[in-house]
Amino acid sequence: MSIAVYPGSFDPITCGHLDIIRRGSVLFDEVIIAVLNNSSKNPLFSAEERVRLIEKSTADLPNCRAVYFDGLLVDFVTKLGANVVIKGLRAISDFEYEFQMALLNKNLNPDIETLFMVTNANHSYISSSVVKEIANLGGDFADLVPKEIFNDVKQKIEKGR
Ligand code: COA
Repeated sequence: MSIAVYPGSFDPITCGHLDIIRRGSVLFDEVIIAVLNNSSKNPLFSAEERVRLIEKSTADLPNCRAVYFDGLLVDFVTKLGANVVIKGLRAISDFEYEFQMALLNKNLNPDIETLFMVTNANHSYISSSVVKEIANLGGDFADLVPKEIFNDVKQKIEKGR
């Protein structure tokens, strides 16, 4: 059985993430969406909230599930018995950081392969920060996040104001 891990902060999940998850779910028997901590970020949504938002967005994808893990990505992948990590590349600017991450992970565990998928052109400008910024400033972000979570994101932002 082929299992792929799709890691990220997902603060919150966006349409760009969902596109990668959908395409990954066709290529692998199972896609585990790993909500992890990025030590350089201070997330708006709690880990539980981020997992829940992914679950709502992927309810129609039976071979996908979201899990929070507080540790190294390679340890999580090993624990699952998987050996493939999927990452989306939005632009050349993503490449340098992702390349470094892939090499670091390879160094930590040589059995783990990182597969890069090219992001759909419609999503190449989206990031979780952009969603939060537009929402915070009262702009329309309906096209940027899965429709199932639009109200959750809106309410969270409004509460935080
Ligand atoms: N569509 C739209 N946006 C996308 C995207 C896509 N396909 N792919 C990535 N993005 C966005 C993300 O939302 C994120 O936006 P933000 O910076 O506004 O939050 C940005 O692009 C960067 O994404 P990414 O590079 O995947 O970073 P991340 O913070 O989401 O995830 C972790 C990084 C959590 C996977 C990484 O820090 C990690 O592995 N942590 C675990 C600890 C560990 O193992 N560390 C050592 C690694 S060597």
